[in-house]
Amino acid sequence: MARLAFITGGGRGIGAAIRAALEQRGCRVVAPARADLDLAEPAAIEAYLKVHGDLPVDILVNNAGINVLNPIPAIDAAAWQAMLQTNLTAALRLIQAFAPGMAARGWGRILSVSSILGVVTREQRAAYSMTKAALNALCRSAAVEFGPAGVLVNALAPGYVDTALTHQNNTPEMLAAIQATIPLRRLARAEELAEVAAFLVSAENTYLTGQTILVDGGFTCQ
Ligand SMILES: NC(=O)c1ccc[n+]([C@@H]2O[C@H](COP(=O)([O-])OP(=O)(O)OC[C@H]3O[C@@H](n4cnc5c(N)ncnc54)[C@H](OP(=O)(O)O)[C@@H]3O)[C@@H](O)[C@H]2O)c1
Repeated sequence: MARLAFITGGGRGIGAAIRAALEQRGCRVVAPARADLDLAEPAAIEAYLKVHGDLPVDILVNNAGINVLNPIPAIDAAAWQAMLQTNLTAALRLIQAFAPGMAARGWGRILSVSSILGVVTREQRAAYSMTKAALNALCRSAAVEFGPAGVLVNALAPGYVDTALTHQNNTPEMLAAIQATIPLRRLARAEELAEVAAFLVSAENTYLTGQTILVDGGFTCQ
């Protein structure tokens, strides 16, 4: 039977590419829109899980994320809470909801879309970097806890991808300068991330777990 994949932020950007890659490989994909599952609102997550929490999810992809830029002195409580809730707490909540079922069935794959900025950083990215670093830690912990039951858990850490998020937070001049420092001299296409994601959550991945996989055109190796 086709595996059931659940993906957040599957409507556009990297999430849409992962969704398409999983569908091409024969998965059934549930990708709730923000109107049905607003990850920034804990009450909305609980309401969604009350109805859909027993879906027999085989593959969970925590992809949705936001990156609101602020220098450290300007990170107020509301900005921090929004980043923490959307990028980290929502992923934890979905792992809590769906990983025990995977473990009970003896097979599962969990992938969280992190960022190279969870490993390195840049000005105005403190809040984002903190949430992504913690997401990497959550992946390691989940890999340890659910590994014995056949559930493999990883974080996929993109570099600079050609999506709305990248263009929202970088001027064309900044992007030109960034591309000049990437060994492959270009941004990634979302489909390139999706190929790696599709492998990580597949049955072909039998031994890779608990890792943060950097896919950045070589940016962070310099
Ligand atoms: N682009 C990059 O260069 C890059 C690099 C490293 C990491 N990443 C990470 O990759 C992931 C996807 O990024 P992207 O570039 O594809 O971003 P994007 O184009 O901005 O898309 C973000 C997706 O997340 C969804 N989302 C955001 N807040 C949400 C909320 N409160 N509830 C439900 N859905 C929400 C959006 O839904 P709506 O359509 O409803 O807005 C959208 O589908 C993020 O976790 C991001 O941090 C991106």
